[in-house]
Amino acid sequence: MISNIVKKAVRWNQLSHTDQDRYRREFERQKFRVMGLIARVVSVFPLPITTFLELSGSDKHQPRQKNRHQYGFAYTRAFADYRFKKIKILEIGIGGYGYRIGGESLLAWRAIFPFASILAADIEPKPDIKIPGVSVFQIDQSDKSGLDNFAKENGPFKIIIDDGSHMSMHQILTFKTLFRHLSDGGVYVIEDVETSCWTHDGWDGSPVQSELFSNTCVGYFSKLAKYVSVRNNFESLEQTDIEIVSNTISVYFERNLIIINKRG
Ligand SMILES: C[S@@+](CC[C@H](N)C(=O)[O-])C[C@H]1O[C@@H](n2cnc3c(N)ncnc32)[C@H](O)[C@@H]1O
Repeated sequence: MISNIVKKAVRWNQLSHTDQDRYRREFERQKFRVMGLIARVVSVFPLPITTFLELSGSDKHQPRQKNRHQYGFAYTRAFADYRFKKIKILEIGIGGYGYRIGGESLLAWRAIFPFASILAADIEPKPDIKIPGVSVFQIDQSDKSGLDNFAKENGPFKIIIDDGSHMSMHQILTFKTLFRHLSDGGVYVIEDVETSCWTHDGWDGSPVQSELFSNTCVGYFSKLAKYVSVRNNFESLEQTDIEIVSNTISVYFERNLIIINKRG
């Protein structure tokens, strides 16, 4: 309705496709800026984490829609201690394709963590993500040294969320690289880990009953959980994993989600 009125006012149908494209992009940019300011303002209200995630439009928590993620319940438990603390949060993967700016989860984090500095990384440039207190970086999570240098300059982080490529090899490499840049008592989250059993279209998963499954993200963290539980017989582990196991207090498997808690 409103969009029809605006379209009539600007004589939308008489505009060239290039101009329509330009206006659409500019509209999305301005809308996103306003949303960023709103997220900042509403962060003073301690609404439930699930509410902010749902309102942001991020696919992280949309329980009213069939077969969508419901990560908000796990996040309510995992982030409870840090919600109103002055912490640093890193999210890998910003989202946004075509006209969509992306950044919905960043709007949610901005509203949920009023005192946090939020850093976001994506393989694509994201010049239109403008939210107060949110810094954006262009980083490929498969580039170990790039990731490490970035974390040395900008870490340590109390919360790290990997919502990037969802490829097992990237999820494992990113975790192994960033674990030491996670603060003591920090929380590390990996989303959408069902890709561990995806074998179509270039995904690097394996069937769950196959021996190769141990090379996937869920396979790797299952092994980690085993050693965290027994705290023994580390001989077969490589040095990085020994350090990780020695400093990990818990590994939780939720539906499509893994949450690791570092020792405080
Ligand atoms: C699912 S979207 C993130 C959605 C966003 N976190 C949200 O919840 O609203 C995944 C993002 O990961 C980015 N991505 C894909 N491969 C990547 C890589 N190798 N390194 C960093 N980011 C990557 C994509 O460009 C995309 O923006």
